[in-house]
Amino acid sequence: MKGTAKAHTNIALIKYWGKRNDALILPTNSSLSLTLDGFYTKTTVEFRRDLSSDLFLLNDQAVSGQAYERVSRFLDLVRKLSGEENIYAEVNSRNEVPTAAGFASSASGFAALAAASTRAIGLELSDEELSILTRQGSGSACRSIYGGFVEWQMGEREDGLDSRAVQVAPEDYWDVRVAAVELSSTMKKVSSREGMKRTVDTSPFYSGWLEAIPNDLMQLKAAIKEKDFEKLGAIAEANCLKMHATTLGANPPFTYWHDTTVRVMHAIQEMRSKGIPVFFTIDAGPNVKALYLPEHEEVVKSMLENIPGVTSVTLSRTGKGISYL
Ligand code: ADP
Ligand code: DP6
Ligand code: CO
Repeated sequence: MKGTAKAHTNIALIKYWGKRNDALILPTNSSLSLTLDGFYTKTTVEFRRDLSSDLFLLNDQAVSGQAYERVSRFLDLVRKLSGEENIYAEVNSRNEVPTAAGFASSASGFAALAAASTRAIGLELSDEELSILTRQGSGSACRSIYGGFVEWQMGEREDGLDSRAVQVAPEDYWDVRVAAVELSSTMKKVSSREGMKRTVDTSPFYSGWLEAIPNDLMQLKAAIKEKDFEKLGAIAEANCLKMHATTLGANPPFTYWHDTTVRVMHAIQEMRSKGIPVFFTIDAGPNVKALYLPEHEEVVKSMLENIPGVTSVTLSRTGKGISYL
């Protein structure tokens, strides 16, 4: 009863930011992401009769506390689905992405866990069913089931059975590149979960965020269809700024940005004013992702590497959905 799976992270171009149901992880808005080839998680799950509780090792370290509870609660869902309620698992996971630093480790982490654990326990789920299950581990993870451009349709149902990801375009549709600009790999102080909850509950700017989504989503889908990179970049950058603006209105207020975050944002805008089409987006963390086209890779990379405070620049192409190993 063993399974191994690999899943890539994804970067949201239209962000998921807020839940209407915390337990089922039902979002307040639909979102759209690009799956990244360069960052991934590999997870092996083995269900064993001799265990009396789950074990979770991340990067060879035994994990306890909240991160352990999240994994174990997720395995409860898998056990329930399979009808095997009294069997525990050893989970071995490796993140080829910094954990909890705003690089979407929860996305690749829970997508790999969902695929490996369902395989190990003998469930045969469609991609759609797997996306619905994965969503309940981490919202952004439901998009990592698929490669390329992926939309998480928020759905309307209270049971969440229509809240899942669908592929908008496969990974080989359009060669858009992403540079992950790292300035800090330490774990963020406010998790994505806590940050979005505080914002939904207290930020007066939250209603403005929700109002902007339908148009941003429509425009972004049009940009993908037309392969209009300038349009895609402009919409993604503006959507990211709207999301981060909501956190400043929360109580207590917070921001994920560091001083270098702002320096990188300015450098990217400066480069654009010189005619290089490069745009930024930022998830719940201080690190920045730059979006660009292959012909500008050299110039974008060297510009980013030379910004004071930047510790590394990792280039990525569009990535595939989950795979079983
Ligand atoms: P990130 O920006 O990295 O997604 P989040 O705050 O959304 O940050 O999620 C980080 C949390 O995701 C970790 O604290 C841990 O609970 C969970 N996580 C990360 N990697 C894995 C993994 N490989 N397997 C299971 N859970 C993981
Ligand atoms: C800013 O999916 O990490 O990266 O559902 O609570 O696990 P939980 O949160 P998570 O939130 C991601 C927020 C974001 C935007 C996005 O990826 O769409
Ligand atoms: Co996350």
